Amino acid sequence: MNASIRRSVVVALSTLLLVVLVVLAFRVTSHAEAPPDAERGRALFLAKQCDRCHIAGGGAGFGPGLEDLRRPQGSLELVGRLWNHVPAMWATVTQQGLRWPEFDAAEMADLMAYLRADAARDARPDPAKGQVVLIRKGCLKCHSYRREGGGIQPDLAVPRGDYASATAWAATMWTHTPRMVGASTGLRVPYPRFSGDEMSNLLGFLRGATTVPPAGPSASPGR
Ligand code: HEC
Ligand code: HEC
Repeated sequence: MNASIRRSVVVALSTLLLVVLVVLAFRVTSHAEAPPDAERGRALFLAKQCDRCHIAGGGAGFGPGLEDLRRPQGSLELVGRLWNHVPAMWATVTQQGLRWPEFDAAEMADLMAYLRADAARDARPDPAKGQVVLIRKGCLKCHSYRREGGGIQPDLAVPRGDYASATAWAATMWTHTPRMVGASTGLRVPYPRFSGDEMSNLLGFLRGATTVPPAGPSASPGR
């Protein structure tokens, strides 16, 4: 019968579509949820030549010993430590004519697992304190926030995917800082350092900014 043929074709097509969707969904989630792996992080630490300066016991290295790097710590606390150490490393890397090691977000997640970072150890972010951090660290000497501040893109109030996770933020900051170091000598902005919960609070503020509607002209005082 015509109608029953049509029905079986529809059933066959919907089954096929379902299978395709299930396969796609599986591939997407299995990729996104590949858990950070400390062993891969250890391999990256060697591959990116971090051990040129950081070795167990600190002995002949130029930087702190490996055990000082690998300690139980908050994820965003580690982002702050990584941020702080860039100028020291940058100087040596450029003097020795080496390339700045790059990390994508997945590699950064593995590295951070190896360095024993755990998001559960980060304090709950305090966005109000984060706003103070944004100003005190001088981000607005270069960037704008809702068009107030410096002229270097991006405007930090514009939503960004990397605000969502500590590892994506770490990867962005890792590539950002050498560019910023270049800009800061020109602009004479002292290199800002982060301690304790400051990075967590800053990111808490920037994340929140993505849900707050843009301020009208009346909200920006004294200009
Ligand atoms: C050219 C030498 C050099 C290389 C290569 C190097 N570091 Fe460092 N690192 C240092 C020095 C020097 C310090 C201490 C400087 C400071 O505290 O500002 C340091 C400190 C650190 C700290 C602690 C910062 C803090 O404030 O507690 C971390 C974490 C770190 N390095 C991670 C890494 C990782 C990850 C790599 C590889 C991608 C790496 N380092 C490669 C020289 C280096
Ligand atoms: C001395 C100038 C300077 C300061 C201070 C500065 N930045 Fe930047 N920032 C830059 C430059 C330069 C770039 C790269 C612009 C480009 O390549 O298009 C950049 C890019 C960025 C980006 C985009 C990175 C990307 O890969 O898309 C973010 C996010 C950012 N900065 C956040 C911050 C935050 C947060 C602070 C304060 C803690 C800060 N910046 C302080 C100069 C600065």
